[in-house]
Amino acid sequence: MIGIFDSGIGGLTVVKEVIKQLPDYQLVYFGDTARTPYGNKSRETIIKYALEDTDFLIRHGAKLIIIACNTASAVASAELKAKYPEMPIFEVISPAVNKANQITKTGRIGVIGTRATINSRIYEEKIKALADRRQVFGQPCPLFVPLAEEGWIDKPVTKMVARQYLLPLKMKQIDTLILGCTHYPLLKPIIKLRAGKGVRLVDPAEETASRVKKFLIDNKNIADQLTHGSNHAFYFSDLTPHLSSLASQWLGQPIKPVLQQLN
Ligand code: DGL
Repeated sequence: MIGIFDSGIGGLTVVKEVIKQLPDYQLVYFGDTARTPYGNKSRETIIKYALEDTDFLIRHGAKLIIIACNTASAVASAELKAKYPEMPIFEVISPAVNKANQITKTGRIGVIGTRATINSRIYEEKIKALADRRQVFGQPCPLFVPLAEEGWIDKPVTKMVARQYLLPLKMKQIDTLILGCTHYPLLKPIIKLRAGKGVRLVDPAEETASRVKKFLIDNKNIADQLTHGSNHAFYFSDLTPHLSSLASQWLGQPIKPVLQQLN
C-alpha cells in the first residue's frame, strides 16, 4: 500500500491528487487530528510525531510513504529517511521547488506555509541549491488553516487576511508562489486574487503525485510490492462529526474514517 500521513485532514488534498494520478493503488492514510496543528510546534515535537505517524503506516502495510504535511516534510524528512533507509519516502517540498524553478521567469519566488515551514527556510535552501540567483520570499500564513477548516474559503474575512499576508509578497513582485501547506490549495482563488496579477501558483500536491507516479514507472520492483484497489483506509487519531464531514468534502468522495489513537 501507499502510506500517506499528515498532521490532520489537510493531507487529503494530497490524497485526492494521488488518487487522480495513481488511481490503481491502494492507500492507507493517517491524519494526526488529536495533535494537530504541527505548524506551530517545536522541531523536536514535529520529528517525534512524524516518526510515530510513519511507524503506524508501516505497521499497516505501507511500502512507500508520502509525507503530505509540509511542516513534517520541512522539519522531519531527513530523520524519517535516516530511520527507514530502505523505504521510499517522498516529501512535498522538492517537487514543488522543481516546478517553481522551472516556471519562474523573473527568479522571484514566494513561499507561504506554516511558521515551522517558513522558519525552517527549507524552500529557500532547496531553490538556491538548484539556482543560486533565485530570490525567495517566505511568509507564514497560520490563519489560513482554521479559515479553510471552517469552510470560509470565500468570506470577506478570508479576503482581508489574504490581503494582509500576501501584500508583502506582492510588493516584492514575485512571479511564482508556492502553496507550502496542505490547506492552501483550498484557498486558491483568493490567494490568486491577492498575490498579484500574473503570479503563478505551485501546488505541491500535484507535483508530488506526479513525482511518485514517475518513480513507480521507473521502479517496477517497488510498484510490484504495492497493492491495487480503491478500498482505501483512512485513520485519524481523533474524530468529530465536523471533521468526518469535512474529510469527505475535501476528498470529494465519502469516506469511512476510523479512529486510531497512537498511544
Ligand atoms: N498540514 C500542515 C502543513 O501542511 C498544516 C496544518 C498544521 O499546522 O498542522 O504544514
